[in-house]
Amino acid sequence: MSVSIMRKEQIIRETEQYVKSILERDSSGHDWWHIDRVRRLGCQLAQQEGANVFVVEMAALLHDVADEKIVGSEEIGMRLVREWLARFPMGTEERESVIEAISTVSYKGGNGKPPRTLEGKVVQDADRLDAIGAIGIARAFMYAGHRGHLMYDPALSVRETMTKEEYRHGPSTAIHHFYEKLLKLKDLLHTESAKMLAVRRHQFMEQFLRQFYQEWNGNVDPSDFT
Ligand code: ADP
Ligand code: NI
Repeated sequence: MSVSIMRKEQIIRETEQYVKSILERDSSGHDWWHIDRVRRLGCQLAQQEGANVFVVEMAALLHDVADEKIVGSEEIGMRLVREWLARFPMGTEERESVIEAISTVSYKGGNGKPPRTLEGKVVQDADRLDAIGAIGIARAFMYAGHRGHLMYDPALSVRETMTKEEYRHGPSTAIHHFYEKLLKLKDLLHTESAKMLAVRRHQFMEQFLRQFYQEWNGNVDPSDFT
């Protein structure tokens, strides 16, 4: 194993510990396992797409450290990320690529800046894939419970466009979140590999919603009794 590969593995291991220590204090649903899934998906997408795997893995590990919901503001978050990366003997270009990828990852109700680099696209795609499918459904209901929202309220209308503030703080339900974000994500992916992975996850959400409304409305098929 070359020295530089050993060094990178060491950086990854130390970064895992750092991220775990920061997310331990979080209660908004950004747990370590989300980070771990995004990191693993990100590395696979990076390989498929020919992106820099180390940059993607580091950015995926650190992407929620820069989240304003966790550290108070995006500025504080990006400063923590910069300070953390400065501890390691990385090339300036590599360090800046990690920072660039992290700075564009968040959705913010559709108000975020699009990623400019392939690595930024890969990390955002991986983060978005973790917001759809079975995992995405589970996370939406966890989040709604955490915020004290209902799982569904048919009287509430779906918000078509919203500011970042409205997205974070306006009234919503877990089911509304599917229309405000989750069902839109497959068309907002950047890489072909992520689009392919999104197909089944998207279909699963549609199937889930069909079944949900059937049960909600108490629609019983007489043939179910036979
Ligand atoms: P953002 O993508 O805006 O940064 P997060 O990634 O912090 O939002 O969201 C964490 C998880 O909670 C995601 O799976 C997301 O889909 C879900 N979530 C965010 N907002 C809501 C909401 N209003 N209702 C239900 N789930 C939500
Ligand atoms: Ni995330």
